[in-house]
Amino acid sequence: ETELMVNKCLQQKNVLVSAGPTFEAIDPVRFIGNHSSGKMGYALAEELALQGAHVTLVSGPTHLQAQHKNIRTIKITSAKEMLNECTQLFPAVDIAIMSAAIADYTPVEVADKKIKKTESEFSIALTKTKDVLAELGKLKKENQLLVGFALETNNEVENAKAKLDKKNLDFIVLNSLNDKGAGFQNDTNKITILDKKGGIEEFDLKSKTEVAKDIVHKIVSLLHA
Ligand code: CTP
Ligand code: CA
Repeated sequence: ETELMVNKCLQQKNVLVSAGPTFEAIDPVRFIGNHSSGKMGYALAEELALQGAHVTLVSGPTHLQAQHKNIRTIKITSAKEMLNECTQLFPAVDIAIMSAAIADYTPVEVADKKIKKTESEFSIALTKTKDVLAELGKLKKENQLLVGFALETNNEVENAKAKLDKKNLDFIVLNSLNDKGAGFQNDTNKITILDKKGGIEEFDLKSKTEVAKDIVHKIVSLLHA
């Protein structure tokens, strides 16, 4: 009975999910990246599709492949490409979940030939990328739900709350890197959900598939409210 209600709720909904890392090119053979595996975003896409949603998954470089027929995957590489795809897709979706680990800084310029080593020290000038989630927060309409993530190692709840407010989100999923077995390259995650009404819910360490169910459940409860 509950399952049926849940299914109905996401049926016909268009959802945008971002996943994975971004790679910021330094030269033709090097980049700045991060350890995001993409597992959390792909698990979210599968769970949403299983519950009847039409999902567009904008994914940075990963070895994962979405399985469900209602998931359309768009592969991107850089933070700039992530921004372009997401801002273009956002107006047509009911729900957006930004689980990608998007680079905060990118090289000012990309060398067109491989950079050669010399005897001296070497540094790369970096410039700030646009915060995709914050941009979507500015575009958000009354009937849209926007969900973000926060990766923190200290002052977790306080930092996550600040991101929730600043980026105009409906809720934020706080990812604790402190806990053994949680985060980035792992198959498990330990999350806390903070919503804009001040609600806060802490979950146990569990598989990313199970975590995806908790997050989708929160979305469904907000759609009902
Ligand atoms: N994010 C984004 N665009 C960026 C950087 C981050 O959309 N250029 C999004 C991520 O997808 C995530 C959320 O912002 O949903 C939080 O990312 P996080 O790295 O925890 O926060 P930042 O705001 O980047 O702050 P900081 O890294 O300084 O903690
Ligand atoms: Ca960041």
